[in-house]
Amino acid sequence: MLRTALYAAISGLAASAAALNAVEAYGNKFFNKDGSQFFVKGVAYQLRPEDPLVDTTQCTLDANLMKELGANTIRVYHVDAASNHDGCMKALADAGIYLLVDLDTFGTYIDPGNLYWNSTQYDKYAKVMDAFHKYDNVLGFFIGNENIAKKDSSPAAPFLKAAARDMKAYRDNKGYRKIPVGYSAADIKELRPMLQDYLTCGGNSSDNIDFFGLNSYSWCDPSTLTESTYDQLQLYAKNFPVPIFFTETGCIVPGPRKWDDQDAIFSKPMVDDWSGAVVYEWIQEGNSYGIITYGPPVKDVSQNDVNVVDGFVRKGTPTPKIPDFDNLKTKWASIHPTGVKKADYDPKGVSTRACPVSTAGGWWQVNGNVKLPALGETHSGTYTTVPSATADPSADTSSSKGPKATGSSKGGDGDSAAASDRQLTIFGASLATIVLSLAILL
Ligand SMILES: *[C@@H]1O[C@H](CO)[C@@H](O)[C@H](O)[C@H]1NC(C)=O
Ligand SMILES: *[C@@H]1O[C@H](CO)[C@@H](O)[C@H](O)[C@H]1NC(C)=O
Repeated sequence: MLRTALYAAISGLAASAAALNAVEAYGNKFFNKDGSQFFVKGVAYQLRPEDPLVDTTQCTLDANLMKELGANTIRVYHVDAASNHDGCMKALADAGIYLLVDLDTFGTYIDPGNLYWNSTQYDKYAKVMDAFHKYDNVLGFFIGNENIAKKDSSPAAPFLKAAARDMKAYRDNKGYRKIPVGYSAADIKELRPMLQDYLTCGGNSSDNIDFFGLNSYSWCDPSTLTESTYDQLQLYAKNFPVPIFFTETGCIVPGPRKWDDQDAIFSKPMVDDWSGAVVYEWIQEGNSYGIITYGPPVKDVSQNDVNVVDGFVRKGTPTPKIPDFDNLKTKWASIHPTGVKKADYDPKGVSTRACPVSTAGGWWQVNGNVKLPALGETHSGTYTTVPSATADPSADTSSSKGPKATGSSKGGDGDSAAASDRQLTIFGASLATIVLSLAILL
């Protein structure tokens, strides 16, 4: 009896030490199990193109340093559903770290240049969900990263929505926890306002994404809300229908980074609408965005093995890159947003987004609440029935200048264009007015 009770108590303790309670999306916020609001303090983590969550020793080394950094989330771009992730997921949980992970792995990317959503992709996405749903510290799944990042790529949007619809239905049919299924967007001013509204419009949440992530590099220290144009991001995020947060940030120009944008994101007005930020990225590699290294660069760039890719060591004991790492650690240690308690929060306060009309110049080409593709459908024809916009938002053709990551082979590009690049178009401004008036009406 006593033995059993003792054993139960001890194993209970062990379990509670390892377990991290699941976080849920409710309205436009994330909440911890105890009802406090959860804010992402995250780092992008992809040590090499393949799955970084299979080497328990490595994960443990990294998770311990991430804990010291003050991170509570990592973002991973590619995993191999067939591998065992128990060790890494436990190492992360033990360090208090949640995971955001792409369902897209290799060869399953929803590609605007060859647009379809079929059962080959569906099955592979489902396998990633099958492999990860069981970990309480999975915070969310992405159906895509930066699929829509240039002119003429917006017809991919209904396909992204179809993928979200099908993966959410799969999750629910399987009886899995309601792990949020979202999207991570490139910050392209001609596309972002329409895209974020489109993915959350139409009034049927089963068809919509559960959260919206933004990869934005427009805050380069020193900066301000206005200069960085974060004030514009904030305008469009006001009362957003689902959680919205940065899934990549951390401009390195001119450097070193002070991470002052974290102050902006975690204080008013942004903290009322944003759920935090993932900084880009953990490992120092060719793009120079890293905050740690595993050793000095390797001279022989042709060396490609388990230790080295593209001249950078990919495993070992992480060494902070100074001062960027320490600056972020100090910054996060000074930031403790309390947000709102779930019990005091009314999710009906969020706005309803109208499905945007298409714009001129080939940017947003999806006119209104178009019929979503069925599973197995290939794109043909057009989603633009009436070219209805009066403004031409294509005047500025600035393209992504963000980092190229090992992890985000098809993405990882952010819009690091100078703040002045992003101006509200006439169309955008009127859209914002509609959205804001809707929000006030509701
Ligand atoms: C899905 O489309 C791709 C690309 O056309 C193709 O290779 C694959 O066989 C398709 N899957 C099915 C089940 O038709
Ligand atoms: C909402 O969307 C789901 C998935 O597409 C669909 O099955 C359901 O019928 C829709 N509900 C309504 C009320 O249209």
